[in-house]
This record gives sequence, C-alpha cells and structure tokens, in this order.
Amino acid sequence: MNDRYAAITGWGMYVPERVMTNLELSTMVDTSDEWIRSRTGIETRHIADVREATSDLATRAAWEALHRADVNPDDLDLIIVATCSPDYHIPSTASQVQDHLGASRAGAFDLNAACSGFVYALSMASQAIMSGGASKALVIGAETLSRWLDWGQRDTCVLFGDGAGAVVLEASDRPSGLLSYVLGSDGSGAELLILRNGGSRQPPRGMMPPEGSLYMNGKEVYRFATRVMGKAAREVMDRAGLTADDISLFIPHQANLRIIESAARHLGIPMERVFVNVNKYGNTSAASIPIALCEAADSGRMQPGDNVCIVGFGAGLTWAAATLRWAPPEAAPDTSLPRRLMRWSRYPLARVKSLIHRAERKIDGFEDELERRRQLVERARRNGHHTGGAAGSNGHSPNGHAAASVSKVEEPEKAVTK
Ligand code: ACO
Repeated sequence: MNDRYAAITGWGMYVPERVMTNLELSTMVDTSDEWIRSRTGIETRHIADVREATSDLATRAAWEALHRADVNPDDLDLIIVATCSPDYHIPSTASQVQDHLGASRAGAFDLNAACSGFVYALSMASQAIMSGGASKALVIGAETLSRWLDWGQRDTCVLFGDGAGAVVLEASDRPSGLLSYVLGSDGSGAELLILRNGGSRQPPRGMMPPEGSLYMNGKEVYRFATRVMGKAAREVMDRAGLTADDISLFIPHQANLRIIESAARHLGIPMERVFVNVNKYGNTSAASIPIALCEAADSGRMQPGDNVCIVGFGAGLTWAAATLRWAPPEAAPDTSLPRRLMRWSRYPLARVKSLIHRAERKIDGFEDELERRRQLVERARRNGHHTGGAAGSNGHSPNGHAAASVSKVEEPEKAVTK
C-alpha cells in the first residue's frame, strides 16, 4: 500500500421536502402502517417533486459536501454519480451535476450498480486518488426511484424513497479513507429486480406500468441480501486485517430493518454499533449509504480514527463492501458570513457560466454554418464558371452530374442572400 490516501473531507445530503407516511400509502394501496413497519421498519419516505430530477437532488447534496470540505468546484478532477434513476439515458446525470456546480475541470460519469452503486463509486474514486490520477473527487449517490414505481403494486411501492448523499475525497498523506473494498456481481439474478422497459432489449413504449415500472421478487432478493451482506462485510474486513470488534460503526444499505438485523447478527456486531435510518427514508437505493454516512457523521456516531464498514446490495444482482478509516479534517470549515456568501455565490455564477457556454455554442454553430454556406457558394461559383465554359464550347452540359451539383448548391446561396 502506498502512502497516498483518499480522505473524506466533506459530506452532504438532500432529501425532497415531501414526506409520504405509511398511513398515506394505505389510502392508495391495500396496505397498512402495521404491515410496513413490522416487515420493513419503514415509517416514512421522501418523494421528489415533479420538477425535481435526480441531478437536482445530487447537486443539493454536492453543495453541502463541497461547503463542508471547503473545496471549490473548479478544483474537482472527477465527479461520479451512482444512480439507477438518471435524468436521462443520455447524457449522464454526472455531467448535469458538473454543469450545475460549475466544476469546469472535472471529468464526470454515471455508475449503475443499483443499491451497491455508491460503494462501487467510492472505491473507484478512491483508487483514482490513491494512484495519483486525481487529487479531488466528488462521489454522489442519488435516486428518484419513485418515478419508476407502480403505485398500485403494494409489494414494491411501500419500500422506496428519493434522496441524495455526497462525499468529497481529497488526496492526503494521513492514513484515512478507503482501507479495503470488495465488489461483486451475479447477473444470473437479473430477473429478480428489474426495470424491463426503456433499454435496448425493450425500447421505451410509453413507459406505462406495469412494463415501465420496477419489478421485484421480494422473497428472493431478501434471501440474497441476508446471505451476501454478512459475507461481503466479513471479506472486506479480512482484506483490511480487521475483525468485527475493530469496527466502530457498521453502515449497511438501508433496505429493510430485518435484513440489517440479520447481517449484524451474522457478523456478531451489536445493534448499538449499526447505523439505521431506514425508518425515515425507506430504501433510497444508491443514496442510502451516503445519506446514512452523513447522518452518522453529523450526529457524532463516527469519531476520528474510527473504522467503519459499509455494505450494499441490489439489482444486478450486485453487492459491494468497504472499510474506511474516519479521519475528517481537524479544522472546521470557515462559516463566517462573508465566506458563506462567497461560497453560495459560486452557484448562480455557475448557472450564468453555463448559459454563456450555451450561447457561445449557438454563436459558434451559427458562424460555422455561415462559413459552410459561404464555401458551398464559392464552390458553386467555381463549378458554374468551369461548367459554363465547357457548355459554351459544345452547347451542352458535359454531364448531368455537374449540372445537378450546381443546382444543389444554389439553394444555400439564396438562403445566405435572403
Ligand atoms: N402491505 C400488505 N401486504 C403486503 C404488502 C404490503 N405492502 N406487500 C406484500 N404483501 C402481502 C403479500 O401479498 C403476501 O400476501 P399472501 O401471503 O396473501 O400472498 C404477504 O404480504 C407476505 O408477503 P411476503 O413477500 O412473504 O412478505 P415478506 O415478509 O417477505 O416481506 C418484503 C416482503 C418486505 C418485500 C421483503 O421480501 C423484502 O424486504 N425483500 C427485499 C427487498 C429489498 O431489499 N429490495 C431492495 C433491493 S435494492 C435495489 O437494488 C433497488
């Protein structure tokens, strides 16, 4: 192991304002608060407004994380957004976030490993920093899975919520950040948790439920999750040379309280050392671990020097686990008013910068088009001159092609001179 580490220096989260309770759900589908609480531990979840897309949630979480780390978006080398509910198939949500932040130097891409996505992304970004390929990175888990739910399907719609969590990673020589990681996949379980419509196998056809909504075989996913969580956590601790006793806080993917309890039992970690917030947010997929990480940091559940284990599982099927050394910066960020104003002013400025880039692109495009037309007209004149001479000598156009090409290029000239 080299002596360059990827320290977590900032963290932030955002959940939409709208809270949906179990009681409200029980007026929409045949379910009850008692059933949902006893089977999943979920009490409420947050649902994105129709005007909020995944990149909006991700950007809000990213702002918080950047402020906490006191990092200027322009200094970021890399932005990874872990999501399975992107704004669009093309372009990536990460590019939208990069633009919203005004992170002009950063490379940006999305990573889809469903609920395991954040741990995958954190491992990749940490590796980029530890190898010297990047110095500062932003890793976000963000989802609006509520958009892909069939609100008439009680076995799935009660489970999920929307939200985003983000961390800033910075190169450091202090032992901190990622200690070990394990990534896994078993694609033979693809059918167990799947959104069939909208990809190349089944192109979008109106995206209406049930074809356009998330399908899940809850029992099978439950069985898979209880098996894989403990196994992946054990493996990643072994790789870091740690035992369960060395782990101060276990942060599992927040899908279901029973799955979390089963994993903790398997590992021999008492529930006091397990972070749980599934009751408030439901399953926010790739956002669940970073949101939990933020709440654990803000509530003092992680102290400098603590070893933390994070484990995710999800569609794919996929799983991922990592051990981290929690060592946030010793100095608290400067929260004085001028400093805060300076930080917040970056984002309206990023918007303006983005609008200017768009306008410049339009002007460039217009200039290129004018130049193209000018060249076509020029070529037409030359051809016309050449053709006119030949035709004059024998009274006919030498070939149909020349005549056709002249008549074709006449149109742009008209357009230009109009
Ligand atoms: N309200 C009331 N009854 C319900 C509901 C509901 N919301 N949903 C299902 N039921 C009924 C079922 O129809 C079934 O009725 P039946 O016996 O008459 O057929 C009964 O409750 C029991 O259903 P089970 O499936 O046995 O319930 P179970 O105890 O297994 O809990 C659950 C279901 C909560 C979905 C569980 O299987 C689970 O948590 N699975 C894992 C899900 C998960 O973690 N998914 C996320 C993966 S992450 C990602 O990548 C997105």
